[in-house]
Amino acid sequence: MPMNSKIRFSKKRAWSHDLPISFLMQQGVENPGVLSLAAGLVDQNSLPVELTKKSFDHLFSNPKTARAALQYGTTAGSLSLRSLLLSHVSNLEEKSARELGMTVDNIIVTTGSQQYLSLLGEVLLDPGDICLVAAPTYFVFLGVLQGLGARIVSIETDEFGMRMDSLESTLGILESQGQLEKVKMIYLVSDYENPSGISLSQDRRGQVVEIAQSWSKQQKIFILEDLAYRELCYDGPVVPSIRSFDSTGETVILTQTFSKSFSPGLRVGFGVAPKEVCAAICDKKGNDDFGSTNMSQQVLATALRENFYYEHVKHLREVYREKRNYMLEAADTYFSNIPGVRWVHPNGGLYVWMTLPNNIETGFASPLFQKAIHEDKVMYVPGELCYATDQKLDFDKQPPIQKNHMRLTFGVQNHEGIQEGMKRLAKAVKSFI
Ligand SMILES: Cc1ncc(COP(=O)(O)O)c(C=O)c1O
Repeated sequence: MPMNSKIRFSKKRAWSHDLPISFLMQQGVENPGVLSLAAGLVDQNSLPVELTKKSFDHLFSNPKTARAALQYGTTAGSLSLRSLLLSHVSNLEEKSARELGMTVDNIIVTTGSQQYLSLLGEVLLDPGDICLVAAPTYFVFLGVLQGLGARIVSIETDEFGMRMDSLESTLGILESQGQLEKVKMIYLVSDYENPSGISLSQDRRGQVVEIAQSWSKQQKIFILEDLAYRELCYDGPVVPSIRSFDSTGETVILTQTFSKSFSPGLRVGFGVAPKEVCAAICDKKGNDDFGSTNMSQQVLATALRENFYYEHVKHLREVYREKRNYMLEAADTYFSNIPGVRWVHPNGGLYVWMTLPNNIETGFASPLFQKAIHEDKVMYVPGELCYATDQKLDFDKQPPIQKNHMRLTFGVQNHEGIQEGMKRLAKAVKSFI
């Protein structure tokens, strides 16, 4: 073999490089002693050790169910789990599966909801196709879209989530530029958005379905509703999903996960989509892994069937409500006397979105990030990671990438960690005022 032969990676390889998620995790490992308000991990102490053990014991008390769990499963996922998921979604929606137009055949179980997001992107998006997203939004999904060579067009948001007037005007501009045929999907994290903690208002949930349907002129424009944080609700109104406004289920594709509400280690998520889309996802998944871990699915099915899961979620809401309050109190204590700093009060989820004065940048290379991590020993997620702007669009209405935000999480630290982390962060910020 010639010594200088080079590796020729695929184009897709070039579209996924220097992922911020890897950088963040590396920073955590390389800087011991740093208090992370960045890591998206869930609360360590409330992980359901006993309940998972009970589910395992239940499963393994009968050799037949134990053997079934140790065997391969099916590509779409365990039928008994999918039946339980149908009831689970129907309970959350307070509507029967019939009213929702859903059957088990619309459900696919995946390895976390991240795999669902990724598989859906694979089967819907060709390079150059457009996905409309909120500014800001879940940055790992932005990475998925980039990895597929898709174009990301951002839509303005306010305290009620994605603005419907901006969505319509952007669709209008895309149409006038002959690019409407490229628009395949609108991505929305409707409850307690990662990173902003904001939920899409009920009015807008109905409106976005109408908008997607009325602009599906040349081809279908789907709404991808990511409900990762749906069950982590602490106060404020619980609003029906976008999917519940789509009676035929032909416009909205919904995805949920058990990572936040039970255990991310099990890696169980799922999605609900029209049957044609399910068939496409199953074909892709058949090539990838022909089914997610059967054991995890059976453990979770047992936890749902035996009500262990619901017991746990009730407890978890208490734990996180208290941690959320702790972080907001610490924000009041340490940040309220810093001019120009403000933050969102989230009614659920895991994040507090903090805005600094315009002139203080928060990115990885910024003096603030460097000082925070190396001197003050605290870490956050720079807000700019959660924005994307399509370079090919020749109009200036796209919201600019904002560089003065931080995503702080109260998920992983205990009360002392939250208190100390916020104190250190305020010290770092103050030195740039
Ligand atoms: C908005 C959102 N969607 C999806 C996911 C994926 O989670 P998982 O793959 O663990 O289900 C996350 C994880 O943080 C998230 O924040």
